Amino acid sequence: VKRIAVMTSGGDAAGMNPALRAVVRSAHYVGVEVFGLRRGFAGLCEGDFQELTPKTVSGILQRGGTILRTFRHPEFKEKQVRDAAAEIFHQKQVDGLIIIGGDGSFRGGHLIDAEWNVPVVGVPGTIDNDIPGTDYSIGYDTALNIAVDAVDKIRDTATSHGRIFVVEVMGRNSGMLAVATGLCCGAEEVIVPETPYNFDEIVHDIEQGYNRGKQHAIIIVAEGATSASAVIEQIRVRSTKETRMVVLGHVQRGGSPSAFDRILATRLGHAAVDRLLDGARGVMVGLKANEVVLTPLKKDRNKARAAVEYMLELHHSTR
Ligand code: F6P
Repeated sequence: VKRIAVMTSGGDAAGMNPALRAVVRSAHYVGVEVFGLRRGFAGLCEGDFQELTPKTVSGILQRGGTILRTFRHPEFKEKQVRDAAAEIFHQKQVDGLIIIGGDGSFRGGHLIDAEWNVPVVGVPGTIDNDIPGTDYSIGYDTALNIAVDAVDKIRDTATSHGRIFVVEVMGRNSGMLAVATGLCCGAEEVIVPETPYNFDEIVHDIEQGYNRGKQHAIIIVAEGATSASAVIEQIRVRSTKETRMVVLGHVQRGGSPSAFDRILATRLGHAAVDRLLDGARGVMVGLKANEVVLTPLKKDRNKARAAVEYMLELHHSTR
């Protein structure tokens, strides 16, 4: 292996830059050239390569976002789009591709590996932490800390006014960020896409809490379950308590990566190069019980669901 490519894809996540830095510097350390593909799968389809040297990745360890930029490019699902991209890609004579991204990016990565005969290694990077095969994805810890910090602040004002607050966090398909935020902040209720919820029960529990002397109620909702405004409407027809809502949105995706994410990104970026050079392909590098492990890019989503269910159970039994 003499030359590899790397790209970031899907929603950006704090820690993608440290992962890129680790890929470039680890490869350079063993004499392998690295080309970055700008704007994820869109840049891949256009052959938008940029040479990455140890110098081009200096000063990015602490920066959020991704210097290679990213893009959602659903057109890559079409075979003819992939065939055209393959032709452009092969001209660059690249011996392997590292994709830093989430589930959708790995589906594309699996197709490249299988159809183009290009070894692909994935690095999990998404704030959603919904990727089986790793305990943590890059960006999740930073996003979780942002959400926890926000809810801690909201709690002060909620208590002062005796209000019910609904806080919407990200997670289109996964409630992991929501349930972890709820767990860390002692939220009264958590609403996630993985399990059914019932507003009569939710409001009943909240009213009971007030009857026991609680001075606020905080509900964390994952955007993939429903919206904060829809939750507020349901509460208002069942309770006379004052309600307010906050949508955290993309605030959770920005900012400097946490120390945890910097270490995770550096370990996984380095491991991706190491395993690619060892001949691994069609796999994702992940961290399980503090060990680097490999799992197929094509994975079983139900495992991510089980992790959310465990966290929900933990939240329910300790709230
Ligand atoms: O996949 C990460 C994520 O932040 C999800 O939590 C969220 O639903 C989605 O991306 C938002 O995507 P976009 O930035 O394209 O609106």
